[in-house]
Amino acid sequence: MHLSTGDWLNDSRGLLNHLARSLRDHPWEAAGLSAIAYAIYLISDRWLWSPLRDIPGPKAAIFSRFYIANIRASGKEYLWIQDLHETYGNIVRIGDPKTVILSDPSALKEIYGTQQFIKSDFHAPFSFKNVPNIFSTRDPSEHNRRRRLMSHGFSMSNIASMERFILDSGVIKLMDKFDKRFAGKGIEVNMYNEWHCMAFDVIGELAYGQSFGMIDRGHHPFTKWLAGARGIPIVQGTFPILARAPGCLMFCITPVSYLNQRRMFRFAQDLYAARRRMGKEVDRPDLMSLLINGVDPETGEQLTYDEQITESLAFVIAGTDTTSNTLTNLIFLLCEHPQVLQRLQQELDKVMPDRNAAMSYKRLDKEHAPFLWAVLMESMRLRTVVPTGLPRLVPKGGCALAGHYLPEGTEVSINPHMVHHDPEIFSNPDKFLPDRWLTEDSAKLARYHIPFSLGPRMCIGKNIAWMELTLALAHLVWRFKFSLADPEKQTKISHFFLTRPGI
Ligand code: HEM
Repeated sequence: MHLSTGDWLNDSRGLLNHLARSLRDHPWEAAGLSAIAYAIYLISDRWLWSPLRDIPGPKAAIFSRFYIANIRASGKEYLWIQDLHETYGNIVRIGDPKTVILSDPSALKEIYGTQQFIKSDFHAPFSFKNVPNIFSTRDPSEHNRRRRLMSHGFSMSNIASMERFILDSGVIKLMDKFDKRFAGKGIEVNMYNEWHCMAFDVIGELAYGQSFGMIDRGHHPFTKWLAGARGIPIVQGTFPILARAPGCLMFCITPVSYLNQRRMFRFAQDLYAARRRMGKEVDRPDLMSLLINGVDPETGEQLTYDEQITESLAFVIAGTDTTSNTLTNLIFLLCEHPQVLQRLQQELDKVMPDRNAAMSYKRLDKEHAPFLWAVLMESMRLRTVVPTGLPRLVPKGGCALAGHYLPEGTEVSINPHMVHHDPEIFSNPDKFLPDRWLTEDSAKLARYHIPFSLGPRMCIGKNIAWMELTLALAHLVWRFKFSLADPEKQTKISHFFLTRPGI
């Protein structure tokens, strides 16, 4: 029998018409059949024939992104991950379609040590108006360009000139406030708020040449906008395809977050313009001058206007809550361990006998104040503010990790909280023991101390953070006596990307 093209078209049309009629006449049956077909597809694709089918993990998580979005929204993701590793072992499959988490520290170098495993879509929502910044860009060559432009500004020798801003706009100002408003009055102080205000004022000074004035006023609309813009990373982090969505679509999905993000961008633009009007003062040794004057040593290129704005916002976001939450953890831990606090105060008394002078960072380094350094190291280990792993993608050709083959494109991460609590590396991992950092083993331990991550994408602000943490903790502990308002109350930790104690 010979079938012409015309017959075939007629037959197909007939079949389609028949299907359309059936759908119209039996909508519920059609919907049921579609749901069953989709379920069969999901089970086959994500489980039965998935190359990751042998990796254990909660099955519900591999079928729907809402599962993990729900855990993220609950503020308990890092505890959930700890439970998963305890239940399933050092490699767990947690997401659709290909997301795997590891707790095996021996894989740290392979995943984070080079840019072979590029950042996953998870980071895209941290861009502003779709302009990537140093943290959110996924392209290694673009990242290298930004890093080349900025890294000298973050070097130890360069940030020495930023010390006066950290002291004058932050630490000393906060001490003056405490002296005037709280000291000797038995007033309860919310230390999280105070550190939060200090960290913002310091970054305002460094990134825009002017303080946010939060130590004095206690608030600034920027922090409300920042908190109000959270919806965007939640939505785009869960459905990364939306990270490239036009603004009008994001406005329809999450209008409040979208407007808050616009407000932050406009605010940064205004401060940038004000800063440029400062004329000669543009040469202040701070982060904004780094963005304005930074030149790529290889190509001679400078950052564009939009790139400068998005980078300045990245500094504010990356450099504030990370610092204030770390300082809040520190004060909590010291109050919970009065002997450690006392020993720290004794060391500081020796280092700085003159109570009327400000201490310089040089006098507080590891050599002059080893116990202070050990306390900082230990608190960042025990209460890591970025506790969940930052996801990377397995490169071309796949790789073998923790005894499993992972195909190209698998999203992998290692959880710093798990590494910091690995009993094979840190004995008594749940205890606050600063002395572990003063033994001969400390160099080996330091290899697994990763609060700032590691490799080429590790925190570029680490030196600034160390300076701010050291100066703030030393001055405040040296001048004031701290104790918990309610020692019986358990420290509550909330977690949304960063952990935050006491809220
Ligand atoms: C205790 C304080 C801080 C902690 C714990 C911290 C932690 C981190 C972590 C975990 C990352 C991610 C690295 C990765 O993607 O693998 C990061 C990146 C970054 N941080 Fe920090 N940070 C702190 C303070 C700061 C400060 C004060 C600044 C700026 C002034 C800053 C600026 C940045 C930037 C720009 C990046 C992106 C770096 C890149 O991708 O090349 N951070 N930080």
